Amino acid sequence: MLPEDAARRQLVERAARDILGGAGYRRIETPAFEATELFVRTIGEATDIVRKEMYTFDDGGGRSLTLRPEGTAPVCRAYLEHGMHKLPKPVKLWYLSSFFRAEAPQKGRYRQFWQIGAEAIGSDTPETDAEIVALLAELLEVIGAHQIRLRLSSLGTPETRAEYREELGRYLHANEERLSSDVRERIDLNPLRAFDSSDPATRDAMREAPVLLDRLDDADAEHFTRVRELLDDVGIRYEIDPTLVRGLDYYTRTVFEFESAALGAQSGVGGGGRYDRLMEQIGGPQTPAVGFAAGVERILMAAGEPEVEAPLVDLFVAVAAGEGSRDAWKLSRDARRAGLTAQSELAGRSLKGQLRHADRIGARYVAIVGDRTEVSLKDMESGEQRELPLAGVIGAVRGT
Ligand code: HAM
Repeated sequence: MLPEDAARRQLVERAARDILGGAGYRRIETPAFEATELFVRTIGEATDIVRKEMYTFDDGGGRSLTLRPEGTAPVCRAYLEHGMHKLPKPVKLWYLSSFFRAEAPQKGRYRQFWQIGAEAIGSDTPETDAEIVALLAELLEVIGAHQIRLRLSSLGTPETRAEYREELGRYLHANEERLSSDVRERIDLNPLRAFDSSDPATRDAMREAPVLLDRLDDADAEHFTRVRELLDDVGIRYEIDPTLVRGLDYYTRTVFEFESAALGAQSGVGGGGRYDRLMEQIGGPQTPAVGFAAGVERILMAAGEPEVEAPLVDLFVAVAAGEGSRDAWKLSRDARRAGLTAQSELAGRSLKGQLRHADRIGARYVAIVGDRTEVSLKDMESGEQRELPLAGVIGAVRGT
């Protein structure tokens, strides 16, 4: 992140803090790396992330560690390790952290990127799913992300999914000659990913494939209907996409993804879903949970160039000559301690150069400090200049 991006990023951070904090989510930050096993178990061995995108290293003590590629598994690990199950349910957490995936970098896809994420742990109510979706929708709206589309689906329970996977596997084997080699190789490992393929012949074959949404059991179907009703109630528009596949294996029931047509190839702005079995996969008790994560860089790209006001500079302290620099140094420091934004000359410019610089940074006032105890205070907007004692400068600027 370069300084010119900082102000826009701060807008996103502030929106996240206001919206998620306002809904009772509390900030959590987990370490940058975790035991490799945590990610392999939860994200899934057959996923692209685990197969080829993790930065994994030996820590020198025989332990395999991995730079976190995502935040859900680490948050669940922290939840168990720190006894958060004793807190009132759901335990609502959010994070704004950097993540690492060894992907080929391109616009919107980086090897280190930032995510805003929220996780509601300990509740299986459809209201929680709807809240998670609604919070991300609100975040994107407040930041001004353009051309947003929400895709929604349900993956059911692992049991339904296992049966369905077999059915889909049979279909894929029966249609092998129509599939790309990549998809064909993974029929038994991860048949669901076939829906994700961009190969035209594969896509064609997948149009007639059985869909999981038609195979949900009654409880899952009811849960999904309720989530939809709740989103309808607050006017959140979505498209049901039975082929929605997320790149992580831990999901159960609701899954969703927000995309922006403003983004091009990497159109996913944020996504998430329910992961009712994840906690058990890492040795905890059965704990239903749902969450989202959205890429900060992608949110900003989708928002175009939101208006960011230049930071206000109340006072620039210029030095006219000689000894004045010591008074100037002290004045700018005192001004900041009194709550003003103030800068002083650090580059040894001529007085003319200093005034030009003060104008460029948008200073409201310039105090010109010389050898005398009197200071000239210039109002940069009106051009008016007056003499006053050094001790009166801060009061004069504050009083305006
Ligand atoms: P994910 O879909 O893998 O989900 O990532 C979420 C978001 O992170 C993406 O929509 C995208 O905006 C951003 N992102 C992912 N990879 C990159 C990259 N290489 N460069 C830039 N941005 C990227 C998760 O990570 C889940 N943990 C979400 C979740 C939370 N599910 C439940 N709770």
